[in-house]
Amino acid sequence: MAAKLLIFLFFTFPFLLQFHFSAGQNPVRAAYWAAGSEYPVSSINSTLFTHLFCAFADLDPQTNRVTVASANQARFSSFTSTVQSRNPNVKTLLSIGGGSSPPAAFASMASQASSRKSFIDSSISLARSYNFHGLDLDWEYPSTATEMTNLGSLLTEWRTALNNESTVTGKPRLLLSAAFFRNSDYYTLLYPITAIRNSLDWINVMAYDFYGPGWSNVTGPPAALYNPGTQVSGDYGIRSWIRSGIPASKLVLGFPFYGYAWTLLNANNNGLFAPASGAAITPGGDLGYGQIRAFIGQNGPSEVYNATVVSNYCFKNTTWIGYDDTQSIKAKVSYAKQNALLGYFAWHVGADDNWTLSRTASQTWGA
Ligand SMILES: *[C@@H]1O[C@H](CO)[C@@H](O)[C@H](O)[C@H]1NC(C)=O
Ligand SMILES: *[C@@H]1O[C@H](CO)[C@@H](O)[C@H](O)[C@H]1NC(C)=O
Ligand SMILES: *[C@@H]1O[C@H](CO)[C@@H](O)[C@H](O)[C@H]1NC(C)=O
Ligand SMILES: *[C@@H]1O[C@H](CO)[C@@H](O)[C@H](O)[C@H]1NC(C)=O
Ligand SMILES: *[C@@H]1O[C@H](CO)[C@@H](O)[C@H](O)[C@H]1NC(C)=O
Ligand SMILES: *[C@@H]1O[C@H](CO)[C@@H](O)[C@H](O)[C@H]1NC(C)=O
Repeated sequence: MAAKLLIFLFFTFPFLLQFHFSAGQNPVRAAYWAAGSEYPVSSINSTLFTHLFCAFADLDPQTNRVTVASANQARFSSFTSTVQSRNPNVKTLLSIGGGSSPPAAFASMASQASSRKSFIDSSISLARSYNFHGLDLDWEYPSTATEMTNLGSLLTEWRTALNNESTVTGKPRLLLSAAFFRNSDYYTLLYPITAIRNSLDWINVMAYDFYGPGWSNVTGPPAALYNPGTQVSGDYGIRSWIRSGIPASKLVLGFPFYGYAWTLLNANNNGLFAPASGAAITPGGDLGYGQIRAFIGQNGPSEVYNATVVSNYCFKNTTWIGYDDTQSIKAKVSYAKQNALLGYFAWHVGADDNWTLSRTASQTWGA
């Protein structure tokens, strides 16, 4: 009877069940705080966010335990109370790994049940002792089929341990998220979809770093939402995750609060995909949004918003910078809402310019 009613409801009012299944998961309007940025935690305007990620804790390759560098211990252990002083409802997650953390250590840890257990148990005690609400994995990237399988085992065992710890202690379960590649496959290697769907509260889709002077000899939209004729865009990535079996309600779209500066070969050839000879302004060409706005204020470059790809860029002489300004952020947050994604996140909060992008995102979401 109940089954028949459900089937009736599903075909008649599918939105009712969608609502039912997604109820309980609150939207995610998030940003990472990067310890390396030296941006003071106490300056974060946490009223603009539902969740803040504290980045990064490390994986000790000898013990397979999660550790926090001694230089970070004070800031990490007070992170939650500091950001909650402006917004008591903001939730915090301790993020483990990151782009400069050696992926081999994660591969080794994930390869055996005993080392996975060391990792998982230490992550839980660290999260609890520092008062985080959750944990976030940032392994960049599992790069063999075996590593993808082992990632699945890690996530499944991690979630079981979090459920158990919550039952035993009576505390609300710790949240579990992970930052993954833009697409559901890492250069044809499929992520462990079933384990991800069953274990994670959500995925942070890293829909950025598509073009940069370190790996692209033409200018490009560093975090294009659309990129016709390619598989390198936020929209392509989001759709690949959904097609693989991750519901939109577990996807959080990532965007950068930074851009990349190139040196053009020819100052008069200054559009998207123009030939370039390397980085400008900084050794890697990477610039926070605040630095980009400062460059614009000092040099008065031409500023362009291309709504086809959803990217901003500006150029002056042979300096060309691609980035997300308010128009791109608005379009991406609208996209996340229209496609019923769980939310959005930014890397990283300290690179914003007087809360311009954070506020644009939050207001576009309608918070
Ligand atoms: C934080 O953001 C809120 C919402 O935009 C704003 O009202 C408040 O003034 C901001 N606080 C600071 C210190 O910037
Ligand atoms: C369940 O959690 C408790 C408390 O954290 C821990 O002592 C115990 O080892 C856990 N059991 C399993 C099977 O993980
Ligand atoms: C740019 O890179 C592409 C692909 O790696 C290569 O085919 C091309 O020759 C390069 N162009 C220049 C101007 O270096
Ligand atoms: C936006 O960029 C695309 C891709 O390079 C290009 O085809 C299009 O002409 C650009 N649109 C505008 C208005 O410049
Ligand atoms: C652009 O060129 C002009 C004239 O040479 C120079 O004064 C100015 O500093 C240059 N600006 C940038 C950002 O390269
Ligand atoms: C920062 O933003 C606020 C609110 O938009 C504005 O009143 C203030 O003048 C800005 N401060 C700076 C230094 O730009």
